Amino acid sequence: MSKTLDQVNVTGLRVLLRADLNVPMHEGKVTDLTRVERLVPTIRELSEKGAKVIVLSHFDRPKGKRVESMSLKPIAEALATVMNKPVAFADDCVGPVAEEAVAKMQNGDILVLENTRFHAGEEENNPEFAAALAKLGDIYVNDAFSASHRAHASVVGIATHLPAFAGRLMQAELHALEQALGTPARPVAAIVAGSKVSTKLDLLANLVAKVDILVIGGAMANTFLAAEGYNVGKSLQEPDLHDTAREIQKAAVVKGCELILPRDVVVAEKFEANAPTKVVKVSEIPSNMMALDVGPATVAAFINRLPEIKTIIWNGPLGAFETKPFDAATNALAQAIALATKEGKIVSVGGGGDTVSALKLAGYHEHMTYLSGAGGAFLEWMEGKVLPGVIALSKDLSNIG
Ligand code: 3PG
Repeated sequence: MSKTLDQVNVTGLRVLLRADLNVPMHEGKVTDLTRVERLVPTIRELSEKGAKVIVLSHFDRPKGKRVESMSLKPIAEALATVMNKPVAFADDCVGPVAEEAVAKMQNGDILVLENTRFHAGEEENNPEFAAALAKLGDIYVNDAFSASHRAHASVVGIATHLPAFAGRLMQAELHALEQALGTPARPVAAIVAGSKVSTKLDLLANLVAKVDILVIGGAMANTFLAAEGYNVGKSLQEPDLHDTAREIQKAAVVKGCELILPRDVVVAEKFEANAPTKVVKVSEIPSNMMALDVGPATVAAFINRLPEIKTIIWNGPLGAFETKPFDAATNALAQAIALATKEGKIVSVGGGGDTVSALKLAGYHEHMTYLSGAGGAFLEWMEGKVLPGVIALSKDLSNIG
């Protein structure tokens, strides 16, 4: 178990806070503030308790070199706006520039250090670089679950030098994932979709062993259907993975996991907005058409099962949701899950970049029990991996506080 901010008196301490400020940007402006906003409770708490809050983060992939377009400066400005409080910025995350900026801080101040990935030592988890970062603080707080699948210096190495704690966002992520996959109320159902089986092999293998019901949607489902012998027409699918799909189905039977595949699909001749569509049974997909969404009968059948389900974990939109009308299945399911969650009947946890976008577009994201801000880290967690950044936190044996 990692320690939390409840176990340390931070007043007057220099707190190195690992955040994930890897946010979507366009022409130097942050286009989605979600990750910044989610950090506010931890930063506010630390600042109000009189800590000196020193924020560390990567942004994008500068590969160990200074790349001006990947500076954290505009994101530090966005943080100041969101916090409604001044946020200082230092042009480097180690060395004299960072040390001077930290030395100037008063209790309660917030400082953002420049992109950790401007130094090659970050991704190498280089011990000297980790020590140079650690030198700037008295304690380390990791609030970047979404970057904790990276064994980098500001995520892992630094925790070997300083007492380490989980921030409030990290705590919330770990709690939600534990509720969904660690010790869930059963029956637990997973909805897994997306375009490729090949990118989710480990995830599917882990889930069939852990959940009671596994719903497969998206273009991934076409590979399973084709493996079962259905003609999927021009649908996106992976012929090389038919054997793998059959193995996953067999493993599901052995583990007692009910695997639900679409029984009907929405097809079109072309993948374009408002293309003429029709709904067909999976046994009747025309050869000149492609499946672009799960059909209404499949969605209704799953919605009818909701009363028996206690926990749902969702990764991947059911159809090509960014293009109407192929968002219908995702929207209908999101609505039903949101309602059941609101009525206190299920715990619902979603994650992965597209899943969050789809639920936001559907307008139901606020009704889920928890929506993870993580992309790759969420997937690795669903694959059953324990993330290096989370391990680093739980190894801390210090007695501060
Ligand atoms: C993310 O956005 O998923 C994290 O910040 C990790 O970023 P990375 O894939 O560049 O390591």
